[in-house]
Amino acid sequence: MKGIVLAGGSGTRLHPVTSAVSKQLLPVYDKPMIYYPLSVLMLAGVRDILIISTPSDLPNFWRLLGSGDQYGIRLSYAEQPSPNGLAEAFLIGQEFIGGDDVAFVLGDNIFHGQGFSARMRQELKELDGCVLFGYPVQDPGRYGVGELDELGQLVSIEEKPSEPRSNLAITGLYFYDNQVVEIARGLTPSARGELEITDVNLAYLRSGRAKLVNLGRGFAWLDTGTHESLLEAGQFVQVLEHRTGVCIACLEEIALGMGYISADECMALGRKLSNSHYGDYVVAVARAALAS
Ligand code: DAU
Repeated sequence: MKGIVLAGGSGTRLHPVTSAVSKQLLPVYDKPMIYYPLSVLMLAGVRDILIISTPSDLPNFWRLLGSGDQYGIRLSYAEQPSPNGLAEAFLIGQEFIGGDDVAFVLGDNIFHGQGFSARMRQELKELDGCVLFGYPVQDPGRYGVGELDELGQLVSIEEKPSEPRSNLAITGLYFYDNQVVEIARGLTPSARGELEITDVNLAYLRSGRAKLVNLGRGFAWLDTGTHESLLEAGQFVQVLEHRTGVCIACLEEIALGMGYISADECMALGRKLSNSHYGDYVVAVARAALAS
């Protein structure tokens, strides 16, 4: 199983904030945005991950995350010179993917909910075709929209429909078998000149191999596309972390919990960041593990 985080695009909706820095490096409360989708892949058990971004932003992702060795994962990097669509990730990443299945996540999507990791691992284990994750929203027309029949089978997918057939937005987390590369190769650009992820999903739907998991309303899926939603995402993380004392998307804690690094290695990572609240948290997590 391979993982891809797509973290390119021009971020025009957040200009001038994103004029000189990648959107996916902006803070969502106490950590860079990309920590959240990266943590999703790590929690799904994916350790071999390709980060795709623009030629000018890629060096900054490397400075932030390096080889991934410190978290017991392997990170590779690839350029997307222009935002030609989400599905271009499978063409850029085809060598990296090789003959494997792929867990694909957008670098600006935030997921949080109990039982999510176990659910992802189960879906990956049973993967046959593609698995999409739906989330009920008030404004589905802003997203890809999935429709389920009374048996929970996926029956339609539409990209940003003016008259949505359901309130289930298709989130930016997708599990695909290896056929995704071949499907992406056969795509033609949409009217807006992009290789659309929805066209990939439709190809799986047509062959009867697409599943939509409804994450449900007890879950949180947050968007960071506008100044308001970015601020709200930060506030959401702040409220949860303050209330519970537990950090969301702490890569060091996840690496330790998954058994990718030892408590001593976690302690060393925390000490490097110990001037910050985040670093203090990592140290406390490592200390608790050493004591248990
Ligand atoms: O967030 C989930 C939604 O993401 C899905 O519901 C939609 O079906 C899917 O098309 C996509 O819609 P968006 O309108 O959010 O796509 P957007 O063009 O904003 O791109 C999403 C992220 O991917 C954004 O952070 C920029 C980045 N991106 C985008 C394009 C087109 C790239 O890195 N490269 C690209 O070529």
